Amino acid sequence: MIDRATVEQILDTADIVDVVSDCVSLKKRGANWVGLCPFHNDRTPSFYVSRAKGICKCFSCGQGGSAVNFIMEHEQMTYVEALKYLANKYHIEVKEREQTDEERAAQTEREAMLIINEWACQWMENQLWNTTEGQEVGLSYFRERGFSDATIKKFRLGYSPDNRTALYQAAIQAGYNRELLLKLGLCKDDTRGGGFDFYRGRVMFPIFNVAGKVIAFGGRTLKKDDHAKYFNSPESVIYSKKESTMYGLYQAKRAIARQDKCFIVEGYADVISMHQAGFENVIASSGTALTEGHIHLLHRFTNNVTELFDGDAAGIHAALVGIDKLLAEGLNIKVLLLPDGEDPDSYARSHSSSEIKDYITANESDFITFKTRILLDGAEHDPIKRSAAITDVVKSISMIPDAVTRSIYAKEISNLFAVSEQMILREIQKHIARNKDEAFKQRQREQRRNAALEGTGAPITKDATTRQEQPQQPTHSQDKDAANTYREERYVMHLLIKYGMCYLCDTEYAPGKTRPTSVLEYVSNELSLDNIEFSHATFKRIFTLSKELIPLFYQELSAAEKEIGNECEQLLHQEISQLDPVGMSPGKFEQEENSIRSKYDGIKMEKVNDFCQLFLEKRLCSDPNDEVRQMATQLVSDRHQLSKIYTQNTKIVTEFDRLSFLIPLAINTWKNAIIGIQIKELQARIKQGGITHDESQSLLKQLQELFRVRRELARRIGDRVVNPK
Ligand code: CTP
Ligand code: MN
Repeated sequence: MIDRATVEQILDTADIVDVVSDCVSLKKRGANWVGLCPFHNDRTPSFYVSRAKGICKCFSCGQGGSAVNFIMEHEQMTYVEALKYLANKYHIEVKEREQTDEERAAQTEREAMLIINEWACQWMENQLWNTTEGQEVGLSYFRERGFSDATIKKFRLGYSPDNRTALYQAAIQAGYNRELLLKLGLCKDDTRGGGFDFYRGRVMFPIFNVAGKVIAFGGRTLKKDDHAKYFNSPESVIYSKKESTMYGLYQAKRAIARQDKCFIVEGYADVISMHQAGFENVIASSGTALTEGHIHLLHRFTNNVTELFDGDAAGIHAALVGIDKLLAEGLNIKVLLLPDGEDPDSYARSHSSSEIKDYITANESDFITFKTRILLDGAEHDPIKRSAAITDVVKSISMIPDAVTRSIYAKEISNLFAVSEQMILREIQKHIARNKDEAFKQRQREQRRNAALEGTGAPITKDATTRQEQPQQPTHSQDKDAANTYREERYVMHLLIKYGMCYLCDTEYAPGKTRPTSVLEYVSNELSLDNIEFSHATFKRIFTLSKELIPLFYQELSAAEKEIGNECEQLLHQEISQLDPVGMSPGKFEQEENSIRSKYDGIKMEKVNDFCQLFLEKRLCSDPNDEVRQMATQLVSDRHQLSKIYTQNTKIVTEFDRLSFLIPLAINTWKNAIIGIQIKELQARIKQGGITHDESQSLLKQLQELFRVRRELARRIGDRVVNPK
């Protein structure tokens, strides 16, 4: 744990241009620096670095962020590793914070387990290359499979000798802890206080995490009649099958990012053979279906995924199952069927790279088209099968979050099915509505449950927020359903991150007494008045973090104001002293002097504003929490369209200039959305019936009150009735 002051110092010292320059050659362009993006195959410079903002961003692939983010992505480091890298670069001494006992225990166990795995991996490599048994059994097996020595080394393949306790003895002798050997699954308990080797007589495939640490092993038997072809490490603190990794990601990640595409195959051997054939953007799901954890991991590198399947019936079946889930996550899924009887491993070994490339180009098809073709096959003249097929495909399309993509597919399949595009679009809309309805009903059920638990009579707005509150960290897709004010919240969040610490207005805190109020303070007041909270977990977290930073901000602000003041004062005097009073009337001289003064007043104000603006942005975009950091980075680069009146203007009016208008508008629009939802829900409850006369009277009264609030908000929003859907 790096101590907080050190983190601040590192973030303040790191110069983004300097940091990026170590990895990318940059050229100055206007206020920014540009270069070829290191995260994808960039032909023209699309990678922008802004020194003033402390941020870099690729306008083509979207990668980027603060200096810490850049190093994390580019060097594939963890947050702490990236900070240490920067500290080292700027010769900052890293002070580590004392860990709590719990943290230390978890940390040391984790670290110890990683160390043992690394040791075991080396030990097994050594067995493979340097022992007779290893060479004769393990190495010759790999070579027979067509793996080159370089490939075997790249994937650090190994061999576990056919001896009950070889590894166990060696590990104990080397001083490693027995309990951890058992936890890691390298050895099994012999119930007499010792242990025996789990993987004996198997060839070994170490599994790495994204940072290249050995977190698990797969061991393949060499016997034909073995009941289990592979033995795999059990789950542990360092290895979770559901989320931690996909086989080969460590070796493939750069190629995946560069080509903005990833192939998914089934097994270890498939990955290795494809790599050897020159296709490095290949990873394996290790024989399980892709989980959300896998998908989030992949999102970091690409959105374009092609799954490879055997061309037999089982392969086709596998291809059709479970892919809707991936579509819903916004991934761009393609499918590639290999010729019947081939898997990627056998195909890659028996074909040249250009043959493989050609085969991919010719046979890769997007999932929707693929599914349509398969379902239509043999159903051309069977109206019932055809209509079932249409429904099935339409259901898949309705999972795709992006409307443009959906409409492209609608067109595509209307051709394939020879039915009108309009009809397909209507069906898609129906499914989307049904999905939403499901989500809505689900929420209603939850609300009723909550109401039953809490009793009645809660204030209106409170009601809305408790309903939206998520237990702990919701997953991505849950969030999308639950936060139906997501858009409104996101905009407020965007304004907060960019301008939270900026001055907004003076507020009266006692009769006749006012104090300057920042955007963050204003928003915070407004929300607590109406008992509104952010419903999205990450927003909530950012909001809390920001509020916690307020004291530090004011402390640093006064220091910054002093510094900026001094600096401007100096420059001001310098410039005034360069005025030549000779040949200038005293009036003219005074005039010149005043114009210089007012110029520096402007500069001073601008610099202070810059400081206020950057304070939050910089910290949030470098926050240790992945979700906070990523969300903040995204929101900072969000561009919001100015309304027409303003774009027609020749003078560019920035968001900053319009804060006093935009902030209340954003808040009121959000409130309006909440009211809209409450109205809908009340109406639904009333319509549902099954309530007493009194209850229904009270519901109607509530409804009237909500309508009144809505009218009031509409008036405040400026007669622009922002109607929720
Ligand atoms: N797998 C497993 N346990 C098994 C069988 C399979 O964990 N008993 C996983 C492995 O990750 C394996 C993948 O599922 O790599 C695919 O299985 P399979 O095609 O049977 O294995 P291959 O890796 O292709 O093995 P080989 O070509 O060496 O037979
Ligand atoms: Mn195989």
